[in-house]
Amino acid sequence: MNFTSLLSTYLERVNAALSRLLDQLPFQSSPLVNAIRYGTLLGGKRLRPFLVYAIGNMLNADPASLDAPAAAVECIHAYSLIHDDLPAMDDATLRRGQPTCHIQYGEDTAILAGDALQALALSILANEPMPGVSDTSRIAMINELSHASGVAGMCGGQALDLAAEGKRLELEQLEQIHRHKTGALIRAAVRLGSLTAGACGRTALPALDRYADAIGLAFQVHDDILDVIGVNAMTGKKRGADQNLGKNTYPSLLGLQNARAKAWELYREAQSALDILATQSLDTTALQELASFVIERDK
Ligand code: IPE
Ligand code: IPE
Ligand code: MG
Ligand code: MG
Ligand code: MG
Repeated sequence: MNFTSLLSTYLERVNAALSRLLDQLPFQSSPLVNAIRYGTLLGGKRLRPFLVYAIGNMLNADPASLDAPAAAVECIHAYSLIHDDLPAMDDATLRRGQPTCHIQYGEDTAILAGDALQALALSILANEPMPGVSDTSRIAMINELSHASGVAGMCGGQALDLAAEGKRLELEQLEQIHRHKTGALIRAAVRLGSLTAGACGRTALPALDRYADAIGLAFQVHDDILDVIGVNAMTGKKRGADQNLGKNTYPSLLGLQNARAKAWELYREAQSALDILATQSLDTTALQELASFVIERDK
């Protein structure tokens, strides 16, 4: 299957899982649940679920065990975007080509939608069936996802990002922000994928971590680049938002050309991590193609 078809196969698969899970929530027609659906189901590339599915499949996990971790990581991601767009944070009005969640439902409901999605993510990992996955691995998944979401990961990075607005950072400080606000959740997606596969997943983990760290940073470097050169109709976001907010970004610190070069350097690092997995007789095709998608995408 070519990469585009694989991307849409996994996208449809996680969307079906998410729809089913959201259908089970109480208060179905309330503003809260409508806002959760809005922030979760309308658009999105589903890159983090892709990692869970691609890695689980590469490591021969039971396919039925992959929907729960794929949906859980996407719930955390959706929550992070809803809160990232709030007036007190990036104050964005457009996301995935639509008004942001708080524009559509009000700030109060958008805040609660994010809160509820975070709780939902962890309850999915605690409760949903994952055939072939031990209880120890299930607890490890909860640990990975909560760690990556909190102060040691996404929230910590978001706090540093906000505190740095209007100040000029050193490159190492910006790298630290990006590795936390974006890299941590991408690494968690990779680790959730490997945790579905028992011993085989443990053997692959060191190389998978290297891959995750490289594409995680590359993903945010390219997101920064798209804020400068992207087309609103493709990204579904307003170009120039970072500059308007006085954000530190790879293009603002390095220039566009060097930011591109950094993304390519990280791409090569990701590929060399995959070379190690190939020596373990694993088919890394999907992960190779994903790495190139991360730094070449227009949305
Ligand atoms: C945007 O993430 C926010 C960042 C972490 C850079 P995505 O580009 O994955 O957003 P969607 O889910 O595809 O809309
Ligand atoms: C967001 O980074 C990282 C998150 C944790 C959501 P950005 O603020 O650059 O993401 P976009 O550009 O608004 O999607
Ligand atoms: Mg932000
Ligand atoms: Mg933002
Ligand atoms: Mg951005």
